[in-house]
Amino acid sequence: MRKKIVAGNWKMNMDLNEGLKFAETLHKHFTENPPAKAEVVICTPYIHLAGAAAVLKKGKVSLGAQNCASEASGAFTGEVSPWMIKSTGAQYVIIGHSERRTYYKEDDRLLNKKTALAINTGLKVIFCCGEVKEERENNTHFVVVRRQLEEGLFTLQPGELDSVVIAYEPVWAIGTGLTASPEQAQEMHKFIRDLIREKYGKESADRMPILYGGSCKPSNAAEIFSKPDVDGGLIGGAALKKEDFVAIVEAAL
Ligand code: PGA
Repeated sequence: MRKKIVAGNWKMNMDLNEGLKFAETLHKHFTENPPAKAEVVICTPYIHLAGAAAVLKKGKVSLGAQNCASEASGAFTGEVSPWMIKSTGAQYVIIGHSERRTYYKEDDRLLNKKTALAINTGLKVIFCCGEVKEERENNTHFVVVRRQLEEGLFTLQPGELDSVVIAYEPVWAIGTGLTASPEQAQEMHKFIRDLIREKYGKESADRMPILYGGSCKPSNAAEIFSKPDVDGGLIGGAALKKEDFVAIVEAAL
């Protein structure tokens, strides 16, 4: 049985005080109501990481960043390396989110470099892939996702792949209120798992958690998560409200 993962992506929301307060609220909730079958992760802005790590210590909620540099250290003004992220106590980093790909022009080559560095630093990578609306309409969504995985991930050694969680996030569903149907999600998740099987073998494919992201909310999470190849979700907007996030975690049980 693959474990389910529900990861909240806070994006660029909440100042330091608000963020730490919210981390404390979630820590308290999940300490009192431990999620039985799902791992809960929150991916905060960089500035929250060290404080959130202290709040979440020895609890049930894991911590991640939303991006990282492609270099370990040096003269890269404004960047934050995987090694620095790890030193805060965080365990995860999101790489390849569509907002990074689109607004910051991060391409497959760069994302591949970030992923390898983050894994070699000891972080787990939530690697995002997904097609834009036109690509789905042109029926090229499988080609696009295949390319993103082949160029971004498939240079990894089999052992390194065990530090990866894949998040399929159709870009047309992110923050739009449109959600992929459970069938569309399952179809793509199965396609992704088949690609991993072809490249790395059955055991790696069977072990790989593949999360769905894109307007996931309490009203649709249970149905999407019930599909055999959907192993949880990467949650944006609904991760900013305790009740919604908790309800989505509960849908993964
Ligand atoms: P959303 O974002 O849940 O607000 O659509 C998901 C994501 O971008 O990870």
